[in-house]
Amino acid sequence: MCNCIDIQKVDSIVERIGKDPTKAIPVLQAVQKEFRYVPLEVIERIAQTTEMTESQLYGVATFFTQFRLEPVGEKIIKVCHGTACHVGGAEGLTEALEARLGIKDGENTPDMKYTLESVACVGCCSLAPVVMVDEKTYGSLDRKKAAKIIDDLEKAGETG
Ligand code: FES
Repeated sequence: MCNCIDIQKVDSIVERIGKDPTKAIPVLQAVQKEFRYVPLEVIERIAQTTEMTESQLYGVATFFTQFRLEPVGEKIIKVCHGTACHVGGAEGLTEALEARLGIKDGENTPDMKYTLESVACVGCCSLAPVVMVDEKTYGSLDRKKAAKIIDDLEKAGETG
């Protein structure tokens, strides 16, 4: 097992929620809450200590889009590419954020501060084009405003 995974945290999640195969989803949700993604090492550990199998857990983790199998940055920058945002220039926002962060869509910054990703409609089309940073929504953006979101986050990080 990777050194960065605290195995005791995995075991205590299983103790708290249960070892029965019907608990696969809540166990994986708790794992993701703890580690911000579902590490494969954790799937192996759960399979060793419960009645759930690796293939069952992996199947659940890949079937539901809520689960992530790769590590993510501290902040997840989601650029909406739904229809209204697409028409409003979502492509340009992704390009501006890629340039500002020095990564491509779908990647993490090397310092693991940010993850950039494209998502489907986030449900606030009247504000299109929209970017979400974790749960916060930024609307009516252009390239410049999108890049400024990162500037502001950096400033907030320095002072906060
Ligand atoms: S299309 Fe972007 S919020 Fe609906």
